[in-house]
Amino acid sequence: MCGIVGYIGEKEALPIIINGLKRLEYRGYDSAGVSLIDGKSKIYKCKGRVADLETHIQNKDKSGKIGIGHTRWATHGEPNDINAHPHMSGNGHFIIIHNGIIENYARLKKRLQDSGYHFKSETDTEVLANLIEYIYLKGKVDAEVAIRLALTKVIGAYGLVVICTNEPDQLIAARKGSPMVIGIGNNEYLIASDATPIVEHTNSVIYLHDDDIAVIKKGELTLKTIRNEILTPQIQTIDLDIGDIEKNNFKHFMLKEIFEQPRSILDTFRGRITNDFTEIHLGGLFDVLPQLIKAKRIIIIGCGTSWHAGLVGEYLIEEFARIPVEVEYASEFRYRNPIICKDDVVIAVSQSGETADTLAAIRQAKKNGVLVLGICNVVGSSIPRETDAGVYTHAGPEIGVASTKAFTAQVTVLTMVALLIGKEKKILDEEKFTGLVNELINVPEKIEKILKQNDKFKTIAGLYKDAMNFIYLGRGYLFPVALEGALKLKEISYIHAEGYPAAEMKQGPIALIDENMPVVVIATKDNSYDKIVTNIQEVKARKGIVIAVVSQGDTVIKDLADHILEVPETNVILAPLLTVVPLQLLSYHIAVMRGCNVDQPRNLAKSVTVE
Ligand code: G6P
Repeated sequence: MCGIVGYIGEKEALPIIINGLKRLEYRGYDSAGVSLIDGKSKIYKCKGRVADLETHIQNKDKSGKIGIGHTRWATHGEPNDINAHPHMSGNGHFIIIHNGIIENYARLKKRLQDSGYHFKSETDTEVLANLIEYIYLKGKVDAEVAIRLALTKVIGAYGLVVICTNEPDQLIAARKGSPMVIGIGNNEYLIASDATPIVEHTNSVIYLHDDDIAVIKKGELTLKTIRNEILTPQIQTIDLDIGDIEKNNFKHFMLKEIFEQPRSILDTFRGRITNDFTEIHLGGLFDVLPQLIKAKRIIIIGCGTSWHAGLVGEYLIEEFARIPVEVEYASEFRYRNPIICKDDVVIAVSQSGETADTLAAIRQAKKNGVLVLGICNVVGSSIPRETDAGVYTHAGPEIGVASTKAFTAQVTVLTMVALLIGKEKKILDEEKFTGLVNELINVPEKIEKILKQNDKFKTIAGLYKDAMNFIYLGRGYLFPVALEGALKLKEISYIHAEGYPAAEMKQGPIALIDENMPVVVIATKDNSYDKIVTNIQEVKARKGIVIAVVSQGDTVIKDLADHILEVPETNVILAPLLTVVPLQLLSYHIAVMRGCNVDQPRNLAKSVTVE
């Protein structure tokens, strides 16, 4: 979490930094701050968003061609002006911005206090600033050496940029666990937590690896490890279009991303399916396919929405590949000493590729020597780099904190993986395989039809925007969709919502149902259709309000439910891709009508790079 931007070059740094911070605000928005160097250094910071910072600095001296900026997601210390970054060391020699958590900060802080340091903030970052300064003054070393030595004493995660006020012609950046990218422009460098602030200036970038440190001066970059080994920078070209990270004509990124789904799903399978639908090619899995096919068990790990996509993957892989699948929250997997056998394959699912728990779970699995695959959206992020092989989702940048198009892209990839294994194992015959692939190809067009009903979804949203609670029910492939629908609603509208397998309703949640309880039932035509119709009757018998997602033309549920949201018919295995869309729009409209900040919901961040 937290967004970092640094600039060194020939232009005024502030507008570039502010613009970059706005692009990174999805990473956290509890406070924002900048430091600019123009002979002397200045620090401006305040609680709130980047827009609040802009107001705060309106009449201040904003000059400087070197600078750093930060947008914070609070970990240590409440969101306020003092805990906002940048932090300055006690004697003013160092200014630092940091993303991550210094786990041994309490011990380091105690030692520094014993050596006479006083702390202004409650942050772990100020401890790091003072540790660097302590080493700098005690050891009489230069800034780079002090930073390297300090980082060897740190346990935890960091992406950071440091200014030394005595060496004001350089920025020093370092990474361990938290992402850092350096953009190489024309006589200028940009540093950021991801490529989005960089892309409008240059598409040549260097991704820092763990334990890398970069010393950046105007027109000069030195890359080394914190053990002082010189590295050769690997410059990569990123393929990111500025239009992809703008809202265009949409009111919110979330809405834009919901509407992008026909294209993002198409982009995810484009080029991977042959024209005659007889084959699926996933280049990233080519070398490991024999091992994947022979897997005795597949363990899917992820967090949040990615975990929900993993659940859909479980149904798909068990059905078509007949390989047992377990889906685990990465945070549980990593701490519970799981049994991992040599023929297991682990698949990590992540939009950002930077989620700390998912990364830690990957490392745990790798220690056990099993094949670890990644399904990721952000190209070049940590998870694709740390896994043995994998598949990118190609959904394009997802900026809204609530995941939408990343979910459908992840499900698309998992569908292709399941069908591919099923075909290779000859569980799926040619005809069935081709039929299902053909259905998948039709999904984008069917989503277009769902999106056309947006106004209807909005009207229904208006009726229930003041509800206190919602229940979401689904069976089989649609149970994970119920979970995802409930998550979407609670994270952006702050309405309490629960997702359940429809049959489980009778084991408890039914006690909650009365005339004030909206129950969203995902009930498209499949082999448990009759059962879910019964569940709807059970809700109606308790006077609950039923909002049902149904297959187009359904007349049975139409007569039972209070409202129906229709989606085109498809094979049940693809129903998650269609049925989730009305739920995304329902949540979106409810949140907007409740005056919530849809793209940046309170307390959340898009990329959870802390445990
Ligand atoms: C956060 C985001 C969710 C996301 C989850 C996992 O909680 O708000 O939208 O699903 O992290 O993130 P990942 O990048 O690993 O998919």
